[in-house]
Amino acid sequence: MATFESRPSTSCFGPGRVNLMGDHTDYNQGLALPMAVDLGVVVTFEPWEEERVNISSDAYPGEPASFPLDPDVESIPDLEPAWARLAAAVVSLARPEHGGRFHIASTLPRGSGLSSSAAVAVAVAELCGVDGDALVVARLCQAAEHRIGVPVGLLDPLVCAGGHAGQALRIDFASLSTRSVTIAAAVECIVVDSGQRRDLRTSAYATRVAECEAAAAVVGPLGLATDVDIIGLRDPLLRRRARHVVSECARVDDFAHALSTGDLADAGHLMDESHRSLAEDFEATTPVIEDLTGQLRSRPGVVGARMTGAGFGGCIVVLAEPGAFDPASLDVPAWRVVPVDGTVARRDRG
Ligand code: GLA
Repeated sequence: MATFESRPSTSCFGPGRVNLMGDHTDYNQGLALPMAVDLGVVVTFEPWEEERVNISSDAYPGEPASFPLDPDVESIPDLEPAWARLAAAVVSLARPEHGGRFHIASTLPRGSGLSSSAAVAVAVAELCGVDGDALVVARLCQAAEHRIGVPVGLLDPLVCAGGHAGQALRIDFASLSTRSVTIAAAVECIVVDSGQRRDLRTSAYATRVAECEAAAAVVGPLGLATDVDIIGLRDPLLRRRARHVVSECARVDDFAHALSTGDLADAGHLMDESHRSLAEDFEATTPVIEDLTGQLRSRPGVVGARMTGAGFGGCIVVLAEPGAFDPASLDVPAWRVVPVDGTVARRDRG
């Protein structure tokens, strides 16, 4: 048997994600179509004998964190520096055999809606030896987010763990079933960072979750509701929130069909409709996002553009004809992205 000293350090790529369609549907038992992308984090783990975990990140130079291997759960939401709380919460749930040193190197803009948190969480879970399927990993990562007070759904960790190269992942959050959707269309996917940062703990995200819960208390889970069901919502604000979720879920399968059959005109139209619904009914966009989305849509070769993720700032996803424009030609950061394997798909392939 190998001695402890001979244990090598291991590393894991945690992909970020771009959601192509279906935002604010996951915590409503609805549908979404995200993909794991080639922007992400590389987390390295060097095990040691001490029952302690140290963690450092390129994004927070000079701000390392240290906590016991078996931390007191109550203390995690107050851990300093705050950036390390999620990783500590994952460690507390994953209970790795050994302490050690984690280091995070990232190519993902933080707080931009590309799921830098889930990218870190799934990679840390993998390095801690969590060996379940993508849903098990995702549930653990979601529980970790909840442990530190962020009321997220399963969208991000499920695709960061369970995405497949070259494909988007259709997720049904009512049954928690997934299906890969091949992107047959000759199209490029570009993410554009508005530079407007938000934090899910302090943005209106939790307010939207609460509004959807209030609507669901009247008409049942919004992801399963119909246009007719939501007529029963007297409060106009709750009705608008519900209308977004109902219309967005309907767009997911239409969009998946358009992508897999190469119907770019329909895919672009659905993206624009989704964005409008997120802006008007869900009020999840900002003037900066509106302005940038409008500019992007007017570029030649752009098929469609929408905010992606939670909103309230963050990134826009653009579908464009191949070579239509160079991301470097924009005056804000932008990247061409492709769908890659999530952590579990990578593990399964050995
Ligand atoms: C954030 C959350 C997800 C999801 C999206 C919006 O990324 O982490 O659970 O709710 O917002 O679709």
